[in-house]
Amino acid sequence: MSEILKHVKEAEEKGVAVGHFNISNIEMMWGIFNVARKYEVPVVIGVSEGERDFIGVEQCVALIRSLREKYDYPVFLNADHTYSFERVKEVIDAGFDSAIIDGAQLSFEENVEVTRKCVEYAREAGGHTVIEAEIGYIGKSSQLFDELPEGAAVTEEMITTPEEARKFVEETGVDMLAPAVGTVHGMMRKGFNPKLHIDAIRRIREAAGVPLVLHGGSGSSDGDVRDAVEAGIGMIHVSTEIRVAFRKAIEKAFEEDGEVVAPYKYMKGAVEEVGRVVEEKLKVFNNTL
Ligand code: 13P
Repeated sequence: MSEILKHVKEAEEKGVAVGHFNISNIEMMWGIFNVARKYEVPVVIGVSEGERDFIGVEQCVALIRSLREKYDYPVFLNADHTYSFERVKEVIDAGFDSAIIDGAQLSFEENVEVTRKCVEYAREAGGHTVIEAEIGYIGKSSQLFDELPEGAAVTEEMITTPEEARKFVEETGVDMLAPAVGTVHGMMRKGFNPKLHIDAIRRIREAAGVPLVLHGGSGSSDGDVRDAVEAGIGMIHVSTEIRVAFRKAIEKAFEEDGEVVAPYKYMKGAVEEVGRVVEEKLKVFNNTL
């Protein structure tokens, strides 16, 4: 079994969840990694198509591999939301630890078809890349908003059903599944995101038979997230809260010193603030609040 899947399954057995945090640059990577090391928990660094194009696909692999080797540490690289087989193939060939084929906006049959193709290619390539798929649309963008993304499956009637999850896993052979259970990508400017459907998570986990991943981890209450982990979530994605912390810290640095031009000076606080968000989340995911 691949290392990343092993850690997610171990987390499930302990009643905790592995944290998955997105980066756009090396500063965010350090903010996340420093804190994961402090708590000695495995961690997944995620890069969406846009994020990895910004850093460089092969450069992402080199960065995370260098951390893993230098610190002998369980840190993994995930190709977050990937919308085509071609781009999943690209990251399998580049050596990513996992990849998400996101066919949530396709029909069930089309989603099955593209996911199956990715799973087959990953296996043919040697099995070093775990494949996750997404069912149920939960929005696309890690940003702040005043209203929930249109069409997001957050109500009881719209979320993923256990039967869909079972059928999807059976027909694709996917390693991990991200169902729609109430979260959305991004977060409300004010207040919390909608409540999670905890009972549904329990039933979906049982029916799916593979680890479940909760996307859209920003903006949900700590209590909801804790309950979701207890109900069977093995990994949780967080991006927006990290982006907001990063930006605010840089704004503050410029307010404090309008003349500073050295990035390693004005981004120092941003690394720490990313770490602060990650620390709060890891405490919730690991039940050490
Ligand atoms: P948030 O931006 O809501 O934290 O979601 C992140 C995510 O799920 C990335 O895959």
